[in-house]
Amino acid sequence: MIDFIIRLLDRWFKLREPHRNFLSRALPEKLNPAYCLGGMAFTAFLLSAATGLLLSIYYVPSGKEAYQSIVMLHNRIWLGWLVQSVHKWSANLLIVFTLLHAARVFIHKAYRPPRELNWMAGALGFVLIMVSGFTGYLLPWDQRAYWATVVGTGMAGKTPGAGGFLVRLLRGGPEVGSATLLRFYSLHTLWVPFMLLMIFWAHFHMVKRQGISGGM
Ligand code: HEM
Repeated sequence: MIDFIIRLLDRWFKLREPHRNFLSRALPEKLNPAYCLGGMAFTAFLLSAATGLLLSIYYVPSGKEAYQSIVMLHNRIWLGWLVQSVHKWSANLLIVFTLLHAARVFIHKAYRPPRELNWMAGALGFVLIMVSGFTGYLLPWDQRAYWATVVGTGMAGKTPGAGGFLVRLLRGGPEVGSATLLRFYSLHTLWVPFMLLMIFWAHFHMVKRQGISGGM
């Protein structure tokens, strides 16, 4: 049955064509579990995206209702606490796996040509993941989230020359408030995930074209 559905989809969309060699490509001889870390980071990303989509059904990105919507999600929605915890944990694991993956790549010297652009793409992906973590931290709209964002955005104010401009850009005004919440919500749920997906596509495309490096 599944085979029938796959063949039907393939006839319409020609899905197998570009991925024909994907499962039969050559791999380095000395593979070890550390080569799975990139895939584990991507799995954590998928998990955080799936739980984030579920959270967005109940979360209200407004200064008046954000905190209450999180409390309600946690206490009154079936398995809401679980979805929220998985979202938080998968986001943390994404950072851990990405750092370990980058360390594996560094130790194997896979940042050298021809993979230098892929190294840069990965580094940009890591910056975006950190932006996602920072913007997501404000969304519960409790005291901890509020003051962390006051401090975090305040640090941008120390930038020589452009400090004042940067703080207003991040906060949507002189203080952290509803405008900041909406800005961070938009970045966290739309802008950053969209940019990350483009980075992931480029990253995986290069891995596929260049193959996995042979290690040390
Ligand atoms: C942002 C999250 C990331 C994901 C989901 C991801 C995923 C992957 C995957 C699945 C692979 C192929 C298998 C493997 O080697 O593990 C890979 C390879 C690679 N990644 Fe990442 N990566 C990420 C971040 C990074 C970072 C931060 C860097 C470096 C700064 C990086 C640099 C590379 C390089 C150079 C390769 C090729 C490695 C080789 O050929 O041995 N990646 N990545």
